[in-house]
Amino acid sequence: MKKSKKRKKSNTWKIKQHRDQFFKKSKTLGFRSRSAFKLIELNKKYKFIKANSKLLDIGAYPGGWTQVASKIITNGKILSLDMKKMDEVKNVTFLQCDFLEEHTKEKIFHFFKDKLDVVISDMAANTTGNKSLDCIRTNHLCAEVVEFSSKILKPNGVLVSKLFMGDDFLEVKELAKSRFKKVDFFKPEASRNESKETYLHCVTLKTL
Ligand SMILES: C[S@@+](CC[C@H](N)C(=O)[O-])C[C@H]1O[C@@H](n2cnc3c(N)ncnc32)[C@H](O)[C@@H]1O
Repeated sequence: MKKSKKRKKSNTWKIKQHRDQFFKKSKTLGFRSRSAFKLIELNKKYKFIKANSKLLDIGAYPGGWTQVASKIITNGKILSLDMKKMDEVKNVTFLQCDFLEEHTKEKIFHFFKDKLDVVISDMAANTTGNKSLDCIRTNHLCAEVVEFSSKILKPNGVLVSKLFMGDDFLEVKELAKSRFKKVDFFKPEASRNESKETYLHCVTLKTL
């Protein structure tokens, strides 16, 4: 893309962002990202984060979802991780690492020493400009989260994860259905209409 076109696109994005009600609200309420409202809506619908929850937040930077979880969880345990370094959030342990590495999964097991109530993932692969490829890469991350959650969640645990409506969507849905008894999808209002993202909600592990 030529420089002037790129600048025009980024200016339009900035104007849109400033007019956006969730962006304004996140600034007023001190949330680090407008994404915080997606988790607020998801939790209003499914009521899965409790005061004593043991929760893992994957792909947490800059920390909007972690902030929401830390306001609700007063008597549980929260671990957040991201490849990017994140500023501290009260009562939260943060790991800067790549979720896909085996060592990361060992660190997660070591931190909790027990099964979890909730796994949330808003992970998205870096955009390449190729929408189809971006979709496949993010849905691959979601599939990894489904597999890992089926190993680390309590039998009645809950998984909420970002997923794109596009290539590989049905494959990830089938994978989730093979691991959990109840699987459904919800697109919060705070998720932009033009975005293909939706959120996968899975409850109760199937016994294999
Ligand atoms: C949409 S942002 C998350 C926003 C966050 N939920 C919030 O409320 O502020 C997606 C994040 O996923 C992270 N990510 C992507 N791939 C990852 C990986 N393999 N391991 C860890 N984090 C990853 C990115 O670094 C990025 O910060």
